[in-house]
Amino acid sequence: MTGNFTHIPVLASETVSLLAVRDGIFYDGTAGMGGHSQLMLESRPGISIIATDIDPEMAEKAKQALNRFPGRAKVFCGSYAEAKKFLDECSIKSLAGALLDLGVSSLHYDKASRGFAFKNDGPLDMRLNPAFRLTAEELVNDWPINQLEAILRSCGEHNSRRITHAIEKARTSQRISSTSQLADIICSVIPSRPGHVHPATKTFMALRIAVNREFENIRNGVRGIAALIEKGGRFAIITFHSAEDRLVKKLFNDLLSEGEWKKITGKAVKPSEEEIAANPRSRSAQLRVIEKI
Ligand SMILES: C[S@@+](CC[C@H](N)C(=O)[O-])C[C@H]1O[C@@H](n2cnc3c(N)ncnc32)[C@H](O)[C@@H]1O
Repeated sequence: MTGNFTHIPVLASETVSLLAVRDGIFYDGTAGMGGHSQLMLESRPGISIIATDIDPEMAEKAKQALNRFPGRAKVFCGSYAEAKKFLDECSIKSLAGALLDLGVSSLHYDKASRGFAFKNDGPLDMRLNPAFRLTAEELVNDWPINQLEAILRSCGEHNSRRITHAIEKARTSQRISSTSQLADIICSVIPSRPGHVHPATKTFMALRIAVNREFENIRNGVRGIAALIEKGGRFAIITFHSAEDRLVKKLFNDLLSEGEWKKITGKAVKPSEEEIAANPRSRSAQLRVIEKI
């Protein structure tokens, strides 16, 4: 890997070798710091990239990172669920391949003011784009408690009832407005256990997914992008947790059952032990790739 990275791209060599198998125009729907895009551009001089990121700060960072490939990369701020709009702006009719590296970037967790991390105290925000109306603060304090519980349950939080009960009790006396306040409420009913993930992990993930309508974007985005890929072109998606992976697997299976696609990865590709040791955040990543026939 020779690119310039702050966020370490996960499953990097696997993604490039399974996706960038031909020249042409590729779409990187979740540009982030431009890590995967840089590697794909380095892998073949015949590749150019249209990239999007929904977060204006990340789109700017991707632009800067991809500046070193003049004329070969264009970055937009926007959702991959609207990929066609951005391709139309560039008069691009079809793609040689597309990548979605789902979720958020290390930078989001590291910057306390964005409100994604329980380990860095910040406002309970979690919006990937400051123009979004709904924040995690509003969700936690103002949403009916049964809806909040359903959100947590849909992301696999088995203690959803205990956690939402504690939130319900806490929010009657004062607004829950910071990430550490919420983490403390969760820890008061679910004690942390050495060797296990922090008790607030799934709640924070579920809130982030709801605030940014991540499942809705995946559902709309995968269909929309698949339609833009040309015959022989590939579609790669990296997921980071089981609920996300189940959804992607289902959407890929739907496409496969329609007869225009074939599987490139049988089982999802997972990071090597070396990669997990070097970048623990990669541990739950899974890569799935299909090809249009
Ligand atoms: C895991 S990071 C991608 C990292 C990137 N592959 C790299 O190597 O630097 C995911 C990125 O997707 C962006 N994102 C999340 N939802 C999005 C959406 N609906 N449309 C576009 N970008 C989105 C996030 O802002 C974040 O920067």
